[in-house]
Amino acid sequence: MIVIMQADATKEQIGEVEGALQEWGYEIHPIYGVERTVIAAVGAPTQDEARVAEQVESLPSVERAVLILKPYRFASKEFRPEKSQVKVGDVVIGDNSFVMMAGPCTVESEEQLMTAARAVKAGGATVLRGGAFKPSTSPYSFQGMGEDGLKLLAQAREETGLPIITEVMHVGNIDLVCKYADILQIGTRNMQNYDLLIEVGKVKKPVMLKRGMSAKIEEWLQAAEYIIKGGNDAVMLCERGVRTSETYTRNTLDLSAVLAVRELSHLPVIIDPSQGTGRSSMVPAMCKAAAAVGADGVLVEVHPNPEKALKDGAQSITIPAFEKLMPELRAVVEAVGRYM
Ligand code: E4P
Ligand code: PEP
Repeated sequence: MIVIMQADATKEQIGEVEGALQEWGYEIHPIYGVERTVIAAVGAPTQDEARVAEQVESLPSVERAVLILKPYRFASKEFRPEKSQVKVGDVVIGDNSFVMMAGPCTVESEEQLMTAARAVKAGGATVLRGGAFKPSTSPYSFQGMGEDGLKLLAQAREETGLPIITEVMHVGNIDLVCKYADILQIGTRNMQNYDLLIEVGKVKKPVMLKRGMSAKIEEWLQAAEYIIKGGNDAVMLCERGVRTSETYTRNTLDLSAVLAVRELSHLPVIIDPSQGTGRSSMVPAMCKAAAAVGADGVLVEVHPNPEKALKDGAQSITIPAFEKLMPELRAVVEAVGRYM
């Protein structure tokens, strides 16, 4: 249940409502907003909840008590009607800006990463992507540079000032990845790794949760709920394409997911057109489509020499392609009333 307090509710009145909710057996999560206080009451009481909501509504200074019947609460629009924002240094994800997160799929060497980092910074990216721990279908394909890759990412941040987004693949590596990363990426293969979600819920770093390759929107939102419920509300979602019968593209990029998330949730949504299509030729147009549909940004793979990439070269755009894309994308972003 979400309890919305009247705008002029006093501290004492809010305290009384919180106490009453706890007596009914709820765990409470208040948000003391600028306008008003909203209290999320989690854990259904044994009595009929609709009746309890009526009683809560009769308490002085309560404006409304809303039952949330969805299997996710903190991630729901009922809990927070306005869009939430995730802040990473000076970068805000979820406001009126459109964020470009770009860089190599995988950190391969100092030269490769620094060349890409300098180029994406010069082109206007505000977050640097790069994988140090790589999930791979084949155990024989490149698995990433591990901590050495994280150190190179930190070096690139030092030089360019760009915050870093990088993937954490398992619970045992959270502390290590947190030492270097500004945003933790949970990959498609781990969207339903609930132990990992619970543990990143305890971390004080923004998390970007990719959609599972066969996940329904509601399953994705429930996965986000694990993280937020644990105490970390700096969560953004990333649509990266889903599996369909189509094989011409690597995945089917579901741009309608942005609209679905907007209808159901307050969480920002990023689009990954690289994984979403698997084809570098499609990435620029899909970035523009992401802006047109109202996404909060894109995650784009850029490589100084895609033919030589150790991973995902076919979906990585070149530096000249990135330089060409940025002004074109900015024009679309501005046409829909946003900025980058
Ligand atoms: C992302 O960069 C993944 O590591 C990569 O797409 C995995 O591809 P694979 O499953 O073909 O190894
Ligand atoms: C990635 O972006 O590096 C990645 C592994 O993507 P996904 O989890 O979407 O496959």
